[in-house]
Amino acid sequence: MSLGSKKINVLLCVTGGIAAYKAPHIVRGFVQLGWNVKVILTDSAEAFVSPMVLATLSSNRVWMDRDFLSIDGGSQIPHISLAEWADVVIIAPCTADTASRLAVGAGGKLLDSTVLATKAPVLVFPAMNVNMLYHPATRDNLKKLQELGYEVIDPDSGDLACGYEGQGRLPDREVIVEEAKRAVSMRDMEGLSVVVTAGPTREFMDPVRFISNPSSGKMGYSLAKTAWYRGADVELITGPVSMSSPHGVRVTKVVSALDMMDAAVESMAGCDIMVKAAAVGDYRFTSVSEKKIKRKGTDSVEITMINNPDIAAKLGSIKKPDQTLVGFAAETDNLLSNATEKLNSKGLDLIAANDLTEEGSGFDSETNNVTLLDREGSLKKISGTKEDVADMIWDRVLEIRGKS
Ligand SMILES: Cc1cc2nc3c(=O)[nH]c(=O)nc-3n(C[C@H](O)[C@H](O)[C@H](O)COP(=O)(O)O)c2cc1C
Repeated sequence: MSLGSKKINVLLCVTGGIAAYKAPHIVRGFVQLGWNVKVILTDSAEAFVSPMVLATLSSNRVWMDRDFLSIDGGSQIPHISLAEWADVVIIAPCTADTASRLAVGAGGKLLDSTVLATKAPVLVFPAMNVNMLYHPATRDNLKKLQELGYEVIDPDSGDLACGYEGQGRLPDREVIVEEAKRAVSMRDMEGLSVVVTAGPTREFMDPVRFISNPSSGKMGYSLAKTAWYRGADVELITGPVSMSSPHGVRVTKVVSALDMMDAAVESMAGCDIMVKAAAVGDYRFTSVSEKKIKRKGTDSVEITMINNPDIAAKLGSIKKPDQTLVGFAAETDNLLSNATEKLNSKGLDLIAANDLTEEGSGFDSETNNVTLLDREGSLKKISGTKEDVADMIWDRVLEIRGKS
């Protein structure tokens, strides 16, 4: 998703809304990603957040309106050098006042001139009282910003700092970071409809007991997120996991293998690419008791299980020639022969074979080592964080689709 191996430069512009108090937390989010962060504060924003905190957290000086026409920067013209430096400009929070200035192309403040001068994508996060937001003047200004090519992200709804209830809240930091990651990504999956399955399934025996597996869903979630960064329309069909739903992606929640099968078959009809990264249970209980099964006075219990349907094979059988079907093979032995057998028998176009016994691989790990095998027998080993691996899988999927 990134600009090669270059460290990304994010310019955070903070304006004088009450949500400016969240700016240090946003700076931390970008620093944690390893990005370089610089901050512009408007005069009014200084009343809400300390420049000292922002300078310390970003490890950079903070730029203020009084720096705009000062000779402090030596030969550097602040709004030009900041505009050139930025790979992405984020205005969060963006006040009604700043939106009105940007909508008419005003350049009287450091922030305004920097936004006029930059070629980087500009993301605007309006945050204000609900009546201010719905005022026709504000709505017109935000529409104008979209027409000017800025990305305007709708504020959240909830209780507002001004005591009102309604739309106007600054979205969570995760949303701001995700939108920024998307803004700096290449958009080579635009126009593609992608479905990713993720996480474990659960097979219930009675209302309080189930059998499952330790899949965290991280690989599938990374695939869904990176496809969204790259411009695809993404649906994530997920079993129960502890992660929150990724921003920008349509999420369908399922529990059992049968639920997963129904959802995947339904979504297969309209997608270009289906990636099956879920760890679907192979078996389910013959019957599910409606009431909790009580402990009996015996030393053991016998439980019968039956096979779940083979979702990959089912999808392979209904796949159309212009669709791409990708599977995962998580194995503890005979990795390549098992993966090749799965690739061929289930009509997959590509399989990501995963040795669960390898260090830095498999369930709940932050990283993954995967061998990609395609139908022509070509083999590619990839490894890295699950997000890096996801990107490399999409690269390979696009290559395969380019050939067909
Ligand atoms: C306590 C207080 C809170 C404010 N909160 C907001 C806000 O959340 N959103 C907004 O658009 N304006 C808010 N304003 C108004 C802005 O501070 C004002 O319009 C200012 O001119 C914005 O300047 P700037 O956009 O250059 O930072 C608030 C004002 C005060 C006094």
